[in-house]
Amino acid sequence: MNVVLIGFMGSGKTSVGKALARKKEMDFLDMDEEIEKQEGRKISDIVNENGMDFFRDKESVLLEEISRKNPENTVVATGGGVILSQENRAILKKLGRVVWLDVSPLHAHERTRNDDNRPLLNHPNRRAVIEELLRKRKPFYQEAELHIQVDGKTPEQVAKEIEGKL
Ligand code: S3P
Repeated sequence: MNVVLIGFMGSGKTSVGKALARKKEMDFLDMDEEIEKQEGRKISDIVNENGMDFFRDKESVLLEEISRKNPENTVVATGGGVILSQENRAILKKLGRVVWLDVSPLHAHERTRNDDNRPLLNHPNRRAVIEELLRKRKPFYQEAELHIQVDGKTPEQVAKEIEGKL
């Protein structure tokens, strides 16, 4: 079985994914990290130099590659916008049990405050951008099989909660 973590920027997909993989002795794969490795540059540089559509294409191609390899016993941490494409959402559901890490705008703002590798939030009114993006994306995140509220919880607590619900 694989576990696929989806959720907004700052929801803790990477840290929860690592904690869950450790706990359940699973492999861990982080899509943003893979894209940075493939491209040899940071997400912010990819988006600044080639644009968001280019990044989205890389993300979709990587997701197809991952699913083609048929991984087993793997926790996959996705990027927050992977769910925007219908094709991607279908692949994610086939890949494993999809878990939505649900973070409030307040906490997403707090957790991404000092991060300069999130080009979409590079805006003077970061909080308003977060609220707008979350509003638009919520219906897609809600398609997940499991829903975990993460505000104020440590990655270990969230991992434990996921383990209990799986
Ligand atoms: C994005 C989220 C980022 C990264 C890219 C786009 C998004 O990943 O994939 O900056 O559209 O929400 P994280 O959710 O890991 O920050």
